[in-house]
Parts: sequence; structure tokens; C-alpha cells
Amino acid sequence: MLEHHKQRLSRTRIADLVATGGEERNRLLQCRVGPLYADFSRSLMDGPALASLLTLAEQAAVPAAVAAMFAGERINATEDRAVLHTLLRAPPASAPASLSQEAEWVFQARERMRECVARLRGRGFADGRRVRHVINVGIGGSDLGPRLLLDALPAEVDSPEVHFLSGVDGHALDRLMARLDPACTLVVMVSKSFSTRETLLHGGLLRQWLEAGLDKDRARERLFAVTSRPDAAVAFGVSEMQVLSIWDWVGGRYSLWSAVSFAVALRLGISRFDAFLDGAASMDEHFRAAPMAQNLPVLAALMGYWHRNLLGYSSLCVVPYDPRLREFPNYLQQLEMESNGKSVQLDGSSVAGATVPVVWGGVGTDVQHAFFQALHQGTEVVPVDFVGVINPDHGHDAHHNALLANMLAQSAALADGTPELGADPHRHHPGNRPSAVYLLDSLSPQSLGALIALYEHKVFVQSRLWGVNAFDQWGVELGKKLANSLEQAMARGQVPDAADPVTRRLIAEIAARRRR
Ligand code: F6P
Repeated sequence: MLEHHKQRLSRTRIADLVATGGEERNRLLQCRVGPLYADFSRSLMDGPALASLLTLAEQAAVPAAVAAMFAGERINATEDRAVLHTLLRAPPASAPASLSQEAEWVFQARERMRECVARLRGRGFADGRRVRHVINVGIGGSDLGPRLLLDALPAEVDSPEVHFLSGVDGHALDRLMARLDPACTLVVMVSKSFSTRETLLHGGLLRQWLEAGLDKDRARERLFAVTSRPDAAVAFGVSEMQVLSIWDWVGGRYSLWSAVSFAVALRLGISRFDAFLDGAASMDEHFRAAPMAQNLPVLAALMGYWHRNLLGYSSLCVVPYDPRLREFPNYLQQLEMESNGKSVQLDGSSVAGATVPVVWGGVGTDVQHAFFQALHQGTEVVPVDFVGVINPDHGHDAHHNALLANMLAQSAALADGTPELGADPHRHHPGNRPSAVYLLDSLSPQSLGALIALYEHKVFVQSRLWGVNAFDQWGVELGKKLANSLEQAMARGQVPDAADPVTRRLIAEIAARRRR
């Protein structure tokens, strides 16, 4: 049936569907949840095709999967774990009785983080020094979420500046160590596994840096860890009192609702962090309770599936028209591609069609002057998610009008094109290129929480349509393993026996040119 709708709608134009679909089509393809509005009407989609997609979601047992996730069933089957990031933002006492133990851990951990934030923001360090800087050492889910939040939301007055060390960036490390005073700096090692090489490399040198500048107790007071492996953090040298907990049932890319955002709470304040959790909790409630046809994450997932699996579009471009959301495309890259970049189904069989599209993007209007040419006239059709903010937090109305006008214009130009086809084919815009428009009433902790939770749930629904497990990431393991053995061998000036001929040749080339 979906194939039939694809054939039928492929012969139409988005602009005609918009013009003739009327209120009924608009009603089906837009949705508001609290401070967040979404419009999917600029797409090759209509009521009958959407109905078939909703049937597909029923057949894929999406409602049962949603219920299973919230109930704490072990839906991360390949790691035999529950998936409980929604518990991290659930209102107190709303957890089912079967999750009371986990809910209690979450409550205690939140209280712990709250106390640490209050102490460090109030009294500062025991020697009376203020916490002026926080270095967040972490990568992937231990970095991207906090980065996004800190860029997007306003800081509390006089709160510490936060710096990030993620990849193996020795230059960034040097710059920070040269600039910061260890007496006023808190180092937070964020690593669920506490085994991530990048994080341990940075953490090791920063621990030495603290110890070189301060006595032992003062150095230890300035080193925190956020992890599900407290034993490993303590063995590394973090004092037990300074380890904040997360658990194996929170995936790294779903963990920004936990103490992974310790640096965020220090910078933005606990009340903004709480409001962020509340925003996500409202989206959770909507996702859990709304009928599928009016369920925003479900609709977003179905539109993505339609574009990927029926129309064959291989990427998704995310363009926030608010520079405060500049980290959002990077954040989504991990959320979507690490979750659904799979080709094996939960039962071990191969997936039949395509799974996650390549997710990429940038900030409007800047990217209009970079890659939008290709979006308008390139040979690939790339669906775009536009994200706009209705009320800015500045008073420059002309700026904001220009910003929103650009976003609306781009969405219209992509869909409508120039059907009148002027004499010059170089100037012709083919149009018929879909986009979704998301509008936040303002960029608040609540709306950002809701927006991120929306995409999390979209990813989950899509995982069920594709039959894959959104919560494991085995695909990152092989590269890590190879890197470890290469790193050890290269440190000894050797080439591992198992290295393939290309790797051997490249190591020889590096060795021949390397100055030290
Ligand atoms: O890239 C793989 C990965 O395991 C991600 O899933 C995770 O967010 C990141 O590495 C960091 O892991 P950890 O928090 O355990 O250091």
C-alpha cells in the first residue's frame, strides 16, 4: 500500500498538495505540544499515505514498544538492559512501582548533584577559593549534550565558565592549562564506562596539573567524576565523595538528563536544569499518552521513514535559525546515527531496506551562504528540519524578523521552486523538496527539553519501524580495539603483527617524517 502511495504522490507536487489539501490536510500534518509547534505539510504526504504509515507503526507494535520502555522492560536486548532515560526527568512519585528502586537512585543522585552545586556555587572550595572554571572532560554523549545546553541557555550571574575537552586534542589541553589557575578550577571527568581513552588521557594530565599546582587534598577536591563505574573512578584517583552516579540503563547519548550535566547545573543553576527536565517530562507524557495520529514524535518518525524508505532520500539536514542552537545538529548526529545506524534487526536478521539517513546541518542564515545552493539545485533531494524560535531574548526586532523571514522563505523556496521555468535553466529552482518547520515559543529550558525529548522519541519509533535496537552501539567497538593495539605498538616504535599492509605502510611513512 505504501508503495502505491509513493507512486501516486511522486507524480504530484508539494505546492499542489498544500494548495488543494485544505484544512483537513493541515490538521493531519501539524501538531502542538506545549511550547513546541511542528508543521510537516511541506512534504509529498496526504491523508491516505499517512494512514498507511500509521498502520505500519501499529504493525511494528510501536505502542507496545513505547509502553515497554516506560515500564522499564529490558528493551535494549543486545545488552540486556532497560532503557530508562525518561525516568531521569519523570516527576517525583510518577514512576511505576516496578521501578521504585531506580527512581530512588535517581532521586538520591539528583539530590547529591544539587548539594554539590549548592556547595561549590556558595562556599566554593574548602580553602575559600571560588570556582571560576569548570573543565568538562568527556566525549560523545558525555560532551555533546552539555555543550548544546550551555550554548543554548543563559548562565546564572557570576557562575563558573565551562570549558570542554573531548577528542584527543593536545592543543586545547595546553591552552587551558596555560590559561587557567588550578586553584579556581574544577575538573569533571564524565564517562559512563570510565574506560574511554580520550577522557582518561585528558583526565590523567589534568590530574597531574592539579597536583603540580596544589597540595594533594586541594587537588583531589578539584577532581570530580560522573560515571556508572565508581570503582574505576576511585582507582583513577577521584575521591569517593566526588563521584556522581549514572547507571548502565542510561545510554550515553540519552544521558544529559543526569549528572552528566553537572557542569551545566553549575553554570545555569539548578532551577534552569529542573525546568529543562520538566520540558522533557511533558514531551514524555505526550508521547506516552497521545493517540498515534496526533503524537508528535510518531508523526516526525513516520515522515522520516517516508523520506528515507519510500522516497529514498539518504540524508537529513537540520538547520536551526537561532545561533544559540548551533550545537543541535552535532547533538542529533550522535543521537540519530549512533542509535539507528544499524543494519541488523533485533532478531539477528538483516534489515530489508535503509535505516538512518546521514544527519548533518548548520545554523541559518549562515548555511544559506554555504550549502543551500545544493539543497535548492543539487541532484540530491535532502529533507530539511528547520527549527525557529518565535520570541528571541534580545530586543532587535528587525534582526529577528529577518531571521524568521529567511527560514520561512527557504522552506517555501525548497518546496515551491520556480515552476514557471524561466528561459535560463541555470536559474530554475526545481522545488518539490520537503521540509519540516519546528517553532519554539521561545528558547527556554522547557522548550529545549521538549525539543530534545521529541527527537529522542522519534529515533525510538524509527528504530521500531526498522526493527533495530536504538540503544546499543557495537559499531564503535572495532575501531576502538584497533586503535588501542596500534597506539600501544606505536608508542614502542613498533608495528603490530596483525596490522594490514596499508596500515603498515602509513606507520612507516609517519615514522620516517615524525620529528619526535
Ligand atoms: O562513541 C561510543 C561511546 O560509547 C558513546 O556511546 C558514548 O557517548 C561515548 O563513547 C563516551 O562514552 P563514555 O561516557 O563511556 O566515556
